Amino acid sequence: MNRAKHIAIIMDGNGRWAELKGQKRVKGHEVGAKVVRAITEFCAADNDIERLTLYAFSTENWKRPRLEVEYLMKLLQKYLDSELETYLKNNIRFEPIGDLRAFSTSLQKTIKDVKEKTAHCDGLVQSLALNYGAHDEILRAINRIKKCEDDITQAMLSNALDCKHDVDLLIRTGGDHRLSNFLLWQAAYAELFFTDTLWPDFTTTELERIIKDFTKIERKFGGLK
Ligand code: IPE
Ligand code: IPE
Ligand code: MG
Repeated sequence: MNRAKHIAIIMDGNGRWAELKGQKRVKGHEVGAKVVRAITEFCAADNDIERLTLYAFSTENWKRPRLEVEYLMKLLQKYLDSELETYLKNNIRFEPIGDLRAFSTSLQKTIKDVKEKTAHCDGLVQSLALNYGAHDEILRAINRIKKCEDDITQAMLSNALDCKHDVDLLIRTGGDHRLSNFLLWQAAYAELFFTDTLWPDFTTTELERIIKDFTKIERKFGGLK
C-alpha cells in the first residue's frame, strides 16, 4: 500500500467561497486559515505523513488588488503569531519555502522566529509556500549552483531547491485542474487529486477519503509494477 509521506495542497477557492455567501473575498481567507490549522493537526497526528506543503501565496498573487494583498500579509502575520503554540504542541517543524525577501522586515522576522523556535520539533514538517513559484524556485536554485565547474546533476538541482522532497500526493481544492506554478519539479510523479470543494469547506474527512483512494493506486514510476 502507498504511503502518503509528502502531501502538497493547492488551497484554492477562498474568494469564491466568500462571494457565494455574499461576503467579501477576504472573509474566505480568514476561514481558510482556520482550515489550515485543522488539516495540519490532522496530518501531524498521522504517523504515515511526514511532510505537508501548503500553497499559501504565489509569486503571481502580487497581481491581486492592493487591499487583498495587504489583508493576506496581515493574516499571515496573525496566523504565525497564533500558530507557534499549535506547532510546538503538536511537535511540528515549520519550514517555509519561497522567496521570503519580498515580505516586510517584520513579517520576515516572524517567519524566521517561528522557523527557529520549531527547528527542534521532529514530527510533521509543515511548509507554507510563501511568495512561492516553481519557476522562481528553479531559477534561484540554478543561479546558486551555476558556478560549479561540473555538469549540474539531478541531485544537485534537487538539493538546491527550497523544497528538496518529492511529492507523493498533490491535492487542489476549488475545482480547477491546474498546478499554477506549484512544485513543478517535486511533483514529477505525484498522484494528482482535484476536488470541487472550496478550501474553507475542506475537511479532514475529505482528506482521509483522498488518502484512502491514494493508497490503492498502483504507482509505477515508469516501470512495470
Ligand atoms: C486561494 O484562494 C488563496 C490564495 C490564492 C491566497 P483564492 O483567493 O484564489 O480563491 P478563488 O480561487 O478566487 O475563489
Ligand atoms: C494558486 O491559486 C495559488 C494559491 C493557492 C496560493 P490561484 O487562485 O492564485 O491560481 P490561479 O490564478 O487560479 O491559477
Ligand atoms: Mg484561486
